[in-house]
This record gives sequence, C-alpha cells and structure tokens, in this order.
Amino acid sequence: MTDKKIALVTGSNRGIGKEVVRQLVEKDIFVIAAGRDLAKVETALQELALPQETVAPVALDVADETSRLTAVKKILETHKRIDILVNNAAIFRDYNSLLKDLSLLDFIATINTNVFGSLHLAQLILPNMIKESFGRIVNVSSGMGAIADLHAGSGAYRVSKTALNAITKILADEVKGHNIKVNSVCPGWVRTDMGGSNATRDVSQGAFGIVWAAMLPDDGPNGGFFRDGKAISF
Ligand SMILES: NC(=O)c1ccc[n+]([C@@H]2O[C@H](COP(=O)([O-])OP(=O)(O)OC[C@H]3O[C@@H](n4cnc5c(N)ncnc54)[C@H](OP(=O)(O)O)[C@@H]3O)[C@@H](O)[C@H]2O)c1
Repeated sequence: MTDKKIALVTGSNRGIGKEVVRQLVEKDIFVIAAGRDLAKVETALQELALPQETVAPVALDVADETSRLTAVKKILETHKRIDILVNNAAIFRDYNSLLKDLSLLDFIATINTNVFGSLHLAQLILPNMIKESFGRIVNVSSGMGAIADLHAGSGAYRVSKTALNAITKILADEVKGHNIKVNSVCPGWVRTDMGGSNATRDVSQGAFGIVWAAMLPDDGPNGGFFRDGKAISF
C-alpha cells in the first residue's frame, strides 16, 4: 500500500484522460489508469513512460455495471482507498444531430456512459471516501451542458453533461462536512478524437483544470463548475 493519494481516472487510454494520468503522477499521486480495453491502457502507459511504481492499469467499462463493481472492488481490495475519482470517460455520438430525430438507443447509450457510469462509480467509492474523511471527485463535463448554452444540436451529449452537472451539485451537498469535494470541470475545446483537430487547446491545457480540481485543498470549493480553475456558470 502506498502513502500517496490514490486516483482513479476513467477513459485514460487516450485523449484528455491519458494526459490527466501524466499530470497527476507529476504531482506525486499514485494513479489507477482505467480503460475498457486493458491492452490499450497498458500501451498508453508505456507511451507515457511513467515509473512503474507510480501507476497501475485496470480494466473498467464505465457503461457496464458488472465492470464497475468488479473494478472498484478489486482496487479497494488491493489499494484500500480511492482518494480521487476523475470521471473522464464519455461518448459523443450525436455531434450536430438533432434531438428531435435522434434514435433513443443513441440517447440511452450516451446517458448510460456519461451519466449512469459516472454516478455509479461515485456511489461505489463515496463510502470509502466518507470513511477516510477525504475525497475529490471530478466530473469532466462540458460548457455544452451549461443551461444558458443549451440550443439545437448534439442534444444527447448536452443533456448528459447537464445531468452530470446536476449530479455534481446534489452529491456535493450530500457529502458536505466529510472533506469531500465534488466538482464539474470543462476542459475547454481540446484536440482529441472527440474534440477534433480544429480545437483550440492541446491535451495539456485541457487536463490542467481537471488536475486542479483533483488536487483541491481542504478549504477548496465544493459543488462548482470550473474551467482552468475558474468558476463558470452552470
Ligand atoms: N475534447 C473536447 O473538446 C472536450 C470538450 C469538453 C468536454 N470534454 C470531455 O472531456 C472528457 C474526455 O474527452 P476526450 O476529448 O479525451 O475524448 P476522447 O478522445 O474521445 O476519449 C474518450 C475516452 O473515453 C473512453 N470511453 C468511452 N466510453 C467508455 C466506456 N464505456 N468505458 C470506459 N471508457 C470509455 C474512451 O475509451 P476507448 O478508447 O475505449 O473508446 C477514451 O479513453 C469527456 O468527458 C468529454 O466529454 C471534451
């Protein structure tokens, strides 16, 4: 068992999640890098070339209940704690599609991955965080889910992030007094498979605000929505 804080990062085999792993290790956090394909996580970790003792890969499909239960049980048996949960994994299937035409199966898949997956992981880990009187949960959200910015197009993705933000606020209130911070973070528009090559930010800039929220001190904010460490509107 390590004395370091232990973080679980979902969807860490590519994109922003992979960079969050790198930046958290840089901050002396022991990182459990999760992905639905273990081989891809292992390849990502080899590419990052992190010291072996700083990181461990785990198979976790956030859309699958059995996978969530199995992964959290295994991590808690092995490491005893999860101090930081970064709910990063997400899908964006309905780019520019109209909600009025969207297949309900695509809507359900989006909510299942982006909302139920994140909520259930928080539910599974919070009892341990409450016991330890320490926890940081970062729900990786998007300005596309901000109420004031809701408009036509990409409805399933938008709704999933609005719902995730609601979960952030509600959970934050439910755990206040336990030294647990639950916050939403928008990484900005980032050059990844999801963000595309025209995005304005690289993964390092995108990961910055997520890592900031993961590393909040005990007197840091709880139940907020942030970009680059600055509050933005829900
Ligand atoms: N890029 C942007 O401009 C942008 C803007 C705002 C918010 N965000 C948010 O930032 C986060 C990361 O986005 P990104 O740009 O890095 O996206 P990405 O490049 O598409 O990567 C998505 C990650 O999520 C994983 N994932 C998807 N479904 C999963 C599942 N069922 N179980 C486990 N992992 C799963 C993917 O794994 P596989 O390789 O197995 O598919 C991949 O590792 C997301 O929450 C996204 O909504 C991104």
